[in-house]
Amino acid sequence: MRVKLNGHETGFDSTGGEGLPLVLVHGFPLDRRIWAKQACSLADVATVTTPDLRGFGESAPRDGASMDDYAQDVRDVMDHVGVATAVIGGVSMGGYVALAFARKFPQRVRALVLVDTRAGADSPEAKKARDETASMVQSQGAAALAEKMLPKLLTEESRADRSLVDGLRTIIASQPPAGIVAACAAMRDRVDSTPMLKSIAVPTLVVCGESDALIPPAESKALAAAIPGAKLAWIAGAGHLPGYERPNEFDAALRTFLKEL
Ligand code: MLT
Repeated sequence: MRVKLNGHETGFDSTGGEGLPLVLVHGFPLDRRIWAKQACSLADVATVTTPDLRGFGESAPRDGASMDDYAQDVRDVMDHVGVATAVIGGVSMGGYVALAFARKFPQRVRALVLVDTRAGADSPEAKKARDETASMVQSQGAAALAEKMLPKLLTEESRADRSLVDGLRTIIASQPPAGIVAACAAMRDRVDSTPMLKSIAVPTLVVCGESDALIPPAESKALAAAIPGAKLAWIAGAGHLPGYERPNEFDAALRTFLKEL
């Protein structure tokens, strides 16, 4: 659905119900449609809320964006649906947002789910690549970015599945360039979340697609090791987007974690 929150068009879905509140934050350059399978299959154990961050999906782009702004977007949607505390999950950039949310609004976090993400900030080379991506999208549009990213987002096996490829291409190509450009700057300028990891006091699940080509699995291992008591789930046959590529395995890992809370 789409509503106006604080004067800004905001897209989100929420399954409603009495289950444990679970918020799932999409990655770059995606939107809440990436969580369509989870919203259905986890609805018996959780109330699943999936926001579109500003500038993605049905949420209007704004003048600027930072990880803290995205965390605020998530909080605005939680306030709107009446969720005080939730399990906050995010994939990749959504994981950066989940960590920013935990830093900004720790009292609203019941647990964390960090999927194919990292805590560290961008290296100088990565920052440069962000600006190149932004320029490319400004000159060639989101469809060009889709072609560039698809081979990195999905495993070779997933890429043989036409519906997975076409679905992801459609999502990426439909993103407004302004939102993508703002996200490039937000990721480039994000702070290093590594120092906060040791003080995370909520149950945390780190999930990693075994064949992630964008964030090496070793980083997920290190992330889990740095968070007290964190669990680590490997999703075989998945790349950067295990919830999309291997929803059954991903949902099973999430379900086990949620049931233990
Ligand atoms: C994502 O999937 O959200 C991005 O690959 C994250 C990034 O580029 O750092």
